[in-house]
Order: sequence, then C-alpha cells, then structure tokens
Amino acid sequence: MKNILVVGGAGYIGSHVVKMLAVQGYNPVVYDNLSKGHREAVQGHPFELGDLGDKARLAEVFKKYAIEAVMHFAAFIEVGESVQDPSKYYHNNVAKVLNLLDAMHENAVHYFVFSSTAATFGEPVHPKIDENHPQKPINPYGNTKLMVEKILEDFDTAYGLKSVALRYFNASGADDSGEIGESHTPETHLIPLVLQAAAGKRPCIRVFGTDYPTPDGTCVRDYVHVNDLARAHILALEKMAQENQSLRYNLGSGNGQSVAELIAQAKEVTGVDFKVEYKGRRAGDPAVLVADSAKAARELGWKPQYDLKQIIQTAWNWEQHRRY
Ligand code: UFG
Repeated sequence: MKNILVVGGAGYIGSHVVKMLAVQGYNPVVYDNLSKGHREAVQGHPFELGDLGDKARLAEVFKKYAIEAVMHFAAFIEVGESVQDPSKYYHNNVAKVLNLLDAMHENAVHYFVFSSTAATFGEPVHPKIDENHPQKPINPYGNTKLMVEKILEDFDTAYGLKSVALRYFNASGADDSGEIGESHTPETHLIPLVLQAAAGKRPCIRVFGTDYPTPDGTCVRDYVHVNDLARAHILALEKMAQENQSLRYNLGSGNGQSVAELIAQAKEVTGVDFKVEYKGRRAGDPAVLVADSAKAARELGWKPQYDLKQIIQTAWNWEQHRRY
C-alpha cells in the first residue's frame, strides 16, 4: 500500500503526517479545501483542491492516484465554537465524513485513518485514560468525533471498511526543520499563545482557572509532539492493513503538565519573562486529561520521543520563523 489520500493535509497535523509519509516511501496526495489549511504547508506533494462534501471530486481523485487508504484530518476543532454553533460541527465533522466514507465504499477504498480526540471521553473517571475508559463527551465537538467512531464500527461490520481511530491528547510542537508548524486562525491553543506572548506578539498569556483540584490549581494536560503523532499514524496504518482489522488507540505521553508548569518551562526555553494574567475558568475544560498509551506501546511499539522541553523548543523555532 503506497498511495494515501490525506484529507486536510494542508492543516497542522495533516501536513506533518504528509511529510513523514513521503520520507517513509509512501505517495501522499493532499486533498484540502484550504478553508483552514495552508497551501504553503504542502511542500511539493501532489495537491488536489476539493471539499469533503464533493463525492464526484473525491471519486475522480481516488481514480487519478489509485488511492488505497484515506487519512482524515479535515475537522473543525474548537470546543467553545462547537457549543455556540453545533450545526457547523455536525455538518462538517459528521455529515461530510459520512459522505467521504460513502465515496470510499463506492470506489473500493477499504482503509481509513481517523483523527479522533481525548474529547470523546468527557470528564475522566480515573486518572489516566486508556481505551476502556467510558466515552461520554461533554461538548458537541467530542460528540461529532464519537459519532464517527460509531459509524466506523458499523461500516466495518456491514462493508468491511477497516479503520484506525487515534484519540489525540494535546497535539503540539512543530517539525524540526522549521518549515511547517501550527497556524490556526483564531489561535486558541496554549503553547502557540504562550510563545506569541514570549515573542511580543501578544501582551500577555491569560491562564484560565487557578482553582482546579490539581497540585498548583491550574489544568493538567498531556502534550504530545505532532511528529510522534505522525509516526503513530503510519504504524497504525501498517498494522491495520497487515492484519485487516480495525484499531483504536489513545495517544499521549502519559505525563501530565499543568498550565503553570508549562509557562515556567516556556520562560526557560525562550529566555523571556513574559506577562501572565490569571483569569477565571474557561467553560468546558476538564481539570486533568492524561493518556494511558500502553496499548499503542504494546501493539505498535509506539513511544513518544519528544519531551515537553523539545515540544516547546520546536514550537518556539516555528513561532520565530513562521512561514504562514
Ligand atoms: N489555556 C489557558 N490560556 C489560554 C489557552 C488555554 O490557560 O490562552 C489552558 C486551557 O484552559 C487548558 C490548557 O490551557 O487548561 C490547554 O488548552 P488548549 O486549548 O491548548 O487545549 P485543550 O486541552 O483545551 O484542547 C485539546 C485539543 C482540542 C481537544 C481537547 C480535548 O486542542 O482540539 O484537547 O479535550 F478537543
């Protein structure tokens, strides 16, 4: 299997996966409508402008490149926005994915890799979240991702479509080359916002909540480097195809870092003592979200290679020299 369609391959995680696929000898083809993605993030790989909702266009691209598997990254990802405008999320993250899956089924493409999320689990009921943790999302964003996981189970049973669902914790960092990195508009994620404060592009970083039941009162998250995630996609794709079975993995470092710890680490890496403002809680934030990725370690041989310092260093390199 060589020819992989990467839907949303011009986005943050997709572009890192595309780069790694090519390095490992695959032929990635990027399919993106550029509503959020960046044309500059697609570095010399085949690019097809198109929308998830356009079945005819998908069929054309499947045939043109003899596509054997699809990786899907073209989702809306903001929890707060999903609460304000759920319709937008159900249309893009569910209805259009159903369309993509139908197009795959109609064109005999049998393998699918899906970007799922820690948000499918909702409030943790035990400290580290493994694959057996109950999935009870607390926002429409998490609902959309869980719905697609359910659709995928049914598509496997009925049509034999095999899938991998990867539940990312906090994707972060940038490629070591500095050529691609994270660029969202608006930016809502902690690490890029912290580094923009360090770079003087923002007046301060606002910390949302200091009264959580955590050691320092700020939220604890599990930051995992985007290239570690990219590696997991390829390992999981290969296992799915070799064994012809559907797979589910939670992907994180297994280490929890508080917002305050992360800010301290960012001050050290950047050498800038930027301003920090303490605010109230942001709606919908669980206190602690940390992955148990033992299953991915056991079955895929996957272990994150970047620690938090390296995550911040690569993101800082990107922030200072960003191209888009
Ligand atoms: N935070 C701040 N200040 C900011 C931005 C974030 O204090 O300006 C805090 C948040 O409150 C949270 C932590 O930093 O405690 C991390 O926030 P992010 O927005 O970077 O990431 P989330 O953990 O909210 O979101 C991530 C993914 C989402 C996914 C979610 C699953 O980015 O796509 O995990 O819970 F839905």
